[in-house]
Amino acid sequence: MQRILFICLGNICRSPMAEYLLRAMACDAGRADEFLIDSAATSDENVFRGVGAPVYPPAKAILDRHGIDCSGKRARQVQKEDYAKFDRILCMDDSNVRNLRRIFGGDPAGKIAKLMDLTDCPGNVADPWYTGDFETAYADIEKGCRAILNGGGEGV
Ligand code: 4NP
Repeated sequence: MQRILFICLGNICRSPMAEYLLRAMACDAGRADEFLIDSAATSDENVFRGVGAPVYPPAKAILDRHGIDCSGKRARQVQKEDYAKFDRILCMDDSNVRNLRRIFGGDPAGKIAKLMDLTDCPGNVADPWYTGDFETAYADIEKGCRAILNGGGEGV
């Protein structure tokens, strides 16, 4: 069982897309039992009085179009305890990695990586928040999820 936590800034766009897409891809491959998958934010911007926001509508629309239901997702901020609960903690960009290391106080077990660094296109997932380009973000994330299913970066 691989326990994977996806991380982005707000947990309403990129990391929920990754969470729900990887779950769907694993399910389609008949490998749902191999993975425990979650996602969380480095910030608390999308948690109001303890209640997390749902997936941002343009991100949800793409998942819907692919037949993936994320309506139950609510944003949550990552907790220090998450470090022990997951085997791999996969970030969308460099600032996520920096913020996460600060929250966890480092990365002693080497669990933190960037999702795209598991692929042959290393770097950051295209951030749709400022560009409005959710399609490119989705395509990047799909590539990253495919790499996970193919065993890419295992041991990272
Ligand atoms: P995410 O996108 O990190 O992919 O969920 C963002 C969501 C919210 C904000 C920025 C990025 N924000 O500034 O509130």
